[in-house]
Amino acid sequence: IKDDPDTASKFIADYIIDRIIVFDPTPEKPFVLGLPTGSSPVLIYKNLVQRHKAGDISFRNVVTFNMDEYVGIAREHPESYHSFMYKHFFSHVDVNPANINILNGNAPDLEEECLAYEEKIKKAGGIELFLGGIGPDGHIAFNEPGSSLKSRTRVKTLAYDTIIANSRFFGNDFSQVPKMALTVGVQTVLDAREVVIIITGAHKALALQKCVEGGVNHMWTLSSLQLHPHPMIVVDEDATLEL
Ligand code: GLP
Repeated sequence: IKDDPDTASKFIADYIIDRIIVFDPTPEKPFVLGLPTGSSPVLIYKNLVQRHKAGDISFRNVVTFNMDEYVGIAREHPESYHSFMYKHFFSHVDVNPANINILNGNAPDLEEECLAYEEKIKKAGGIELFLGGIGPDGHIAFNEPGSSLKSRTRVKTLAYDTIIANSRFFGNDFSQVPKMALTVGVQTVLDAREVVIIITGAHKALALQKCVEGGVNHMWTLSSLQLHPHPMIVVDEDATLEL
């Protein structure tokens, strides 16, 4: 539990950097990092970029897999998760573009795209550390309430609440928000050797309570983390209101 989002984000960025340094990645043995979007990780990326610019860390031998992407908006759309990642992270660090993996929400065969993504993760040796956030309903990636805890990368229809929550990025125009997304599954996240989650703000306090004090439950998909051998949830004071 950290005082505020700034401290929580800095803590996570420093933690990830330490993990990469200790791992000592090489081109033959890269560090495989799972990455999220959303407003919560923005400060984490800012810290990672700052420390990269200070010469503390190289991402040259880091392979990344993003959690999710909208279906049906262009890659170049300012609110696509592709755009988000380049804007906040990839454009500012030395990551090799060939090592960046983001689902293609415009692939001609979406199911094939999802299967191929799982294969790519497997080929890369699995994810070492999956960083994530949650929605106010406890969803991880786009694993909306009701998602199977065994789910893998697939097409998902967004929940009404998520469409409302994300409409703030689309000029508050509900009709502009994509209604479907590609997302890694709950099991894809659980397969990572370590999972680190950021949760900040009072609007996520109920979700945090349900996910850590409630039982493992497919309606609050982050609760599945209780089954993980090496999870870490970093929160600010506001998010603890219901604990
Ligand atoms: C979207 C993303 C999630 C993210 C969530 C919360 O639904 N698919 O991965 O955790 O938004 O976003 P925010 O951090 O803006 O609250």
